[in-house]
Amino acid sequence: MTLVHFLRPDGSPDRDVEAAAGARLLDVAQAAGQPLEGTCDGDMSCSTCHVIVASDDFARLPPPSEEEEDLLDLAHGVTRTSRLACQVVLQGDMAELTVRIP
Ligand code: FES
Repeated sequence: MTLVHFLRPDGSPDRDVEAAAGARLLDVAQAAGQPLEGTCDGDMSCSTCHVIVASDDFARLPPPSEEEEDLLDLAHGVTRTSRLACQVVLQGDMAELTVRIP
């Protein structure tokens, strides 16, 4: 299980939810009521699932694909630790993950 901390755009805490290994971050976020549209449902054609990952956690995730990086370039408010939530799968060895909704 991973304890996922969702932060609001201003960085204040919103919700903490537990999620099983293998779950997509997009699905976890939507189930937790986070405002991520995820319009293309993971086909990597929308970038409406953009989240900003805490830098320590970002370094522990498998790196984004080139395709994901290209699409992130088009996302609003992108940062060095931005990811597409549809491409982030929770790892069994990750106890916690903190993400901010942009
Ligand atoms: Fe469209 Fe992630 S849901 S890119």
